Amino acid sequence: MQETFTIAQLQEIILNHKKAGKTIGFVPTMGALHAGHISLINKARAENNFVVCSIFINPTQFNDQNDLIKYPRTPELDKQLLLNAGCDILFSPTVNEMYPVKDERIFDLGGLDKVMEGVYRPGHFNGVVQIVLKLFDAVKPNRAYFGKKDFQQLAIIKYITKQLNLPIQIIPCETIREEDGLAMSSRNIRLNSVERNQAIQLSKALFFVKENAPHLSVKELKQKVNEMLSCYDLIKTEYFEIADSETLQPVDTVTPDKTVACIAAYVGNVRLIDNISL
Ligand code: PAJ
Repeated sequence: MQETFTIAQLQEIILNHKKAGKTIGFVPTMGALHAGHISLINKARAENNFVVCSIFINPTQFNDQNDLIKYPRTPELDKQLLLNAGCDILFSPTVNEMYPVKDERIFDLGGLDKVMEGVYRPGHFNGVVQIVLKLFDAVKPNRAYFGKKDFQQLAIIKYITKQLNLPIQIIPCETIREEDGLAMSSRNIRLNSVERNQAIQLSKALFFVKENAPHLSVKELKQKVNEMLSCYDLIKTEYFEIADSETLQPVDTVTPDKTVACIAAYVGNVRLIDNISL
């Protein structure tokens, strides 16, 4: 596996492979890689001849500076995992390489950024779109892989890719979970053992909702989840929403396969998100 730090070098390598007729699969990440990220690499590997992974902790998507400072960094382990997974290139640019000038672009995201995460993390998705478009422009992949774990991010990336007519296929990938159900996340390493024990309640609540969606109303489901989570002193729920899977707007009734339940909560001082399709 090659590692590059500049867009120019990355493009030179990719161009050679494109000329040879290879398809490019791209997995953008912020590092601290785990089996969830690696599942994206594996899918990219299976569907393309050449796989590019980027690791870049994008400052413009952190509305909380403390979160940016505390974001986990495990560069050596990341490289080993990518090598083992058969990734072809790791692109690890500096902030200056990606943002040689301040990015002032504000994107119209069709209202998808105004609900759920958008309410609690103002500017977050604008920053995500800024970096993803820069990375798409640098890599020019045939396919790009995003996890359903970040359901709203995936919806926004699909939207902007369509809106700008980008010739890139966005491939959604299933959420990978720990054995006890907790969705894998780079942030999980920041949980202490008591927090880690309580964190499983988030996925438990989502599994409860999936099981009970056929016979309880949305109002009842929301009430039950609030009751379930309020028993845990370290969990502070920011939102629990049942929404349309495409528009992300809240719904009053569940339509099978067209509705998603989403949750964001602090467990101690670690903010976690998760979701489940109903
Ligand atoms: P990051 O949180 O590192 O996630 C990179 C990709 O891995 C995202 O598409 C995310 O949805 C996916 N992912 C994370 N946990 C997963 C899990 N448990 N199962 C399956 N996929 C999972 O998301 C970002 O980085 C950034 O916002 C980024 C898109 C790179 C832009 O900076």
